[in-house]
Amino acid sequence: MRFSQRVVIVTGGAKGIGEGCSRVFAQEGGLVAILDRDLAAAERTAASLGENHLAIACDVSDEKQIASSVDAVVQRYGRIDCLINNAGIHPPDTPIHKMTPEEALSVIRVNFLSTYSMCYYALEHLKKTKGTIINVSSMTAALGQRNSTAYAASKGAQLSFTKSLALECADYGVRVNAILPSNVDTPLMRQWASSLSDPEAALQRIAALQPIGRMADVQEMGRVCLFLATEDSSFITGQGLHVDGGASLDY
Ligand SMILES: NC(=O)c1ccc[n+]([C@@H]2O[C@H](COP(=O)([O-])OP(=O)(O)OC[C@H]3O[C@@H](n4cnc5c(N)ncnc54)[C@H](O)[C@@H]3O)[C@@H](O)[C@H]2O)c1
Repeated sequence: MRFSQRVVIVTGGAKGIGEGCSRVFAQEGGLVAILDRDLAAAERTAASLGENHLAIACDVSDEKQIASSVDAVVQRYGRIDCLINNAGIHPPDTPIHKMTPEEALSVIRVNFLSTYSMCYYALEHLKKTKGTIINVSSMTAALGQRNSTAYAASKGAQLSFTKSLALECADYGVRVNAILPSNVDTPLMRQWASSLSDPEAALQRIAALQPIGRMADVQEMGRVCLFLATEDSSFITGQGLHVDGGASLDY
């Protein structure tokens, strides 16, 4: 039990990578607060983790909902030990001239400003527990991605924010890190594949991008987040950890 009786907030914790994180932290004794815009899915996932976990309806693009959700978590558990900023979207491939600045801003609002706002509201509680923040960025933050300028920029913002906030938070004993996944088998990935003419071939192509020959499983992401949330990583802060099966070596 590496997270016993400690409290983690997972945004977008109902499905995909967030669900993987929720499951791993719950297995290690953690109390999991899932903040998700899909309340029904959040409730299903929270219930499947066992007793004492929490599902809160929260659209992370809305600052008011973020503020009240953080309050609700503290009211219920009295503390926050870890914040995982995971909720995110990936629009379909779109060249820049077909995505208006307003549309780009909406991607940045969900993928990056939510991370900023969650930290803004949760930090005072994390200072009390000398907790950790983990931002789920993407390999595209470092390498870029064709026809995904707004998405990659939002993920790059999460990464530079991670480094800067780690500097600010070092004085409080709060560590801040990011993970940079390549390709993970999630509903988002399957949704993208199903928009193409041959989804199975697309998924095989994606799997082959990793030298180890497959996509990641969501719980593999959860286990890395658990490492970053515990004393096992006590000397690591401000880092963007490539969790990519070697994909960035041979991109
Ligand atoms: N799947 C991948 O290969 C991959 C690779 C790199 C980075 N990522 C990042 O990982 C994160 C999770 O991706 P995923 O593949 O698990 O996605 P997913 O779509 O499978 O799951 C995302 C979860 O977030 C929730 N969500 C989406 N928008 C929200 C909002 N505005 N407010 C609250 N909840 C919201 C959804 O309801 C869902 O439960 C994203 O930030 C994504 O950019 C994913």
